[in-house]
Amino acid sequence: MTEQEIRARIANGRAFVSRFANEEDTAEDYQTDQELKKPQPPLAKAAMTDNIIDLPADFAELDIDGDFLHIINSRKSHRVYTQEQMTLTELSYLLWCTQGVKSVRGKSYATLRTVPCGGARHEFETYMAVQMVDGLKDGFYHYLPMTHQIEFLGEAEDLRGFIGESLCEQTWACKANVVFYYSCVFYRAEWRYGIWAHVPILMDSGHITQNLYLAATSIGLGGCAIASVDPPSANKAFGLDGEEETIFYAMPVGTVREEDKDAEDEFYAFVREQGL
Ligand SMILES: Cc1cc2nc3c(=O)[nH]c(=O)nc-3n(C[C@H](O)[C@H](O)[C@H](O)COP(=O)(O)O)c2cc1C
Repeated sequence: MTEQEIRARIANGRAFVSRFANEEDTAEDYQTDQELKKPQPPLAKAAMTDNIIDLPADFAELDIDGDFLHIINSRKSHRVYTQEQMTLTELSYLLWCTQGVKSVRGKSYATLRTVPCGGARHEFETYMAVQMVDGLKDGFYHYLPMTHQIEFLGEAEDLRGFIGESLCEQTWACKANVVFYYSCVFYRAEWRYGIWAHVPILMDSGHITQNLYLAATSIGLGGCAIASVDPPSANKAFGLDGEEETIFYAMPVGTVREEDKDAEDEFYAFVREQGL
């Protein structure tokens, strides 16, 4: 890539972020589909299969850390997992804390969830690669937030191989119990925000993974947000077209223990080695 091309790409990226704040002033004649009274898309994606599994909604059996400041101070990225079983209630808790629907605004105007989202559009879907979770077959799943259920999408020929490939060869993630893959259903946000929808999508996705970090920490699990995702391979596994809906963010979560701190630190050995 030439120096000029690099500068152009960087300028584009900066403009994408900074234009957002004042773009409304420069598009006076533009109306979003919501303003044009076009029909609103569904609040969440319907089940794609009949393989529906109810999730426990009572979290009383979990040992949840009630000290908020302790959770905040203990949160960190974990990339070393001990490969013990995770319970279905733990998985249910993580899904509830990240995308759970608390109520519906109006007849079916918006969902109010455990995370904030611009215009309450909640344009995300949660898919999972699951292994070592009590009562669940290893394979691919999809969260159904309206009913707090999951659906089994199918087995993988090589689940760990898929995790490595879909996360750009970050193979440490293959030992996680669950890799959460987040997709965006673009039109759910574009219906309301049109040409201004896309920066808020990136803002809102961060709320999901931050809640996932905090929820995992509060029950002694650990995870790591991942931007280095390979959308084509993830989209293929979950049957997404990559245009209307695409996977763009992921987070493995697994069982962890404090004794692995040194192994965790080795991910940053380059800091020591390069004297940074
Ligand atoms: C948006 C985002 C993308 C990230 N992508 C990756 C990634 O692809 N691989 C990885 O190992 N860590 C990734 N991380 C984790 C960061 O490296 C980590 O948060 C950072 O080093 C600070 O460490 P801490 O989370 O323990 O405070 C990502 C974190 C965020 C928030």
